[in-house]
Amino acid sequence: MKTILTIQNIVKTYKMRDGVVNALNDVCFTVNRGDFVSITGPSGSGKTTLLLALSGLIRPTSGNILFENQQLVGVTDKELAEFRKKHVGFVMQNFSLIPYMTAIQNVMIPLGLNGKSSAEQKVQSSSVLELVGLENRFNHFPRELSAGQQQRVAIARALVNKPTIIFADEPTGNLDPLLSTEILAFLQKINKELNITIMMVTHSPQAAEYGNVNIRLVDGKLLNRSTN
Ligand SMILES: Nc1ncnc2c1ncn2[C@@H]1O[C@H](COP(=O)(O)OP(=O)(O)OP(=O)(O)O)[C@@H](O)[C@H]1O
Ligand SMILES: [Mg+2]
Repeated sequence: MKTILTIQNIVKTYKMRDGVVNALNDVCFTVNRGDFVSITGPSGSGKTTLLLALSGLIRPTSGNILFENQQLVGVTDKELAEFRKKHVGFVMQNFSLIPYMTAIQNVMIPLGLNGKSSAEQKVQSSSVLELVGLENRFNHFPRELSAGQQQRVAIARALVNKPTIIFADEPTGNLDPLLSTEILAFLQKINKELNITIMMVTHSPQAAEYGNVNIRLVDGKLLNRSTN
């Protein structure tokens, strides 16, 4: 098994006017390439903060993060942005689709940021939308799609850059049980078939079972890392 992420003594402290919040407190673990990691823990335990730090969207206060052998702490903003563009897909609970853009336009966004021509953007976005089963919904706006379809557009957008790792923050939090199962099965499929590493935050014990590794956070501390 090849290690893809090494998390060493991560601390994240938010400084507020009335004191500090220790959102992550000395967290250490490793992730192997191809793992499906589920992250559980009470509200406020640091799950989102952990995903943001690992995906390079925020910087930890101290500690080290290695992606393969590349340092993610202490690098420039530009290097961190490069890492995100090249390796990271992010799926959020509220889908975070742009409301005035169609499904295909939403999926094209990361490709535009990567400087792809609009013809290339269309071809690649179409094929990922087909992969998530939305071949008949290219020109629908988010409000014209069901919740599950919106989440599939968000997953297509996270996938379009062929990321090495997808971070998903409660991707089924706003979905009914049937749609949740559909999205989880889809994440499992891209994990197995495309060998994309997945780190998924969830409140649901059933959803957590999709992971081969489970991480539990309590008060910013890693309480448990188990494998099934
Ligand atoms: N930008 C911020 N500024 C200050 N404090 C923050 C910030 N983001 C998070 N926190 C605090 O850090 C702690 C961890 O927050 P985080 O969002 O990581 O929790 P979580 O486990 O994702 O919770 P939930 O399950 O409710 O989404 C919380 O106490 C929160 O109030
Ligand atoms: Mg959260």
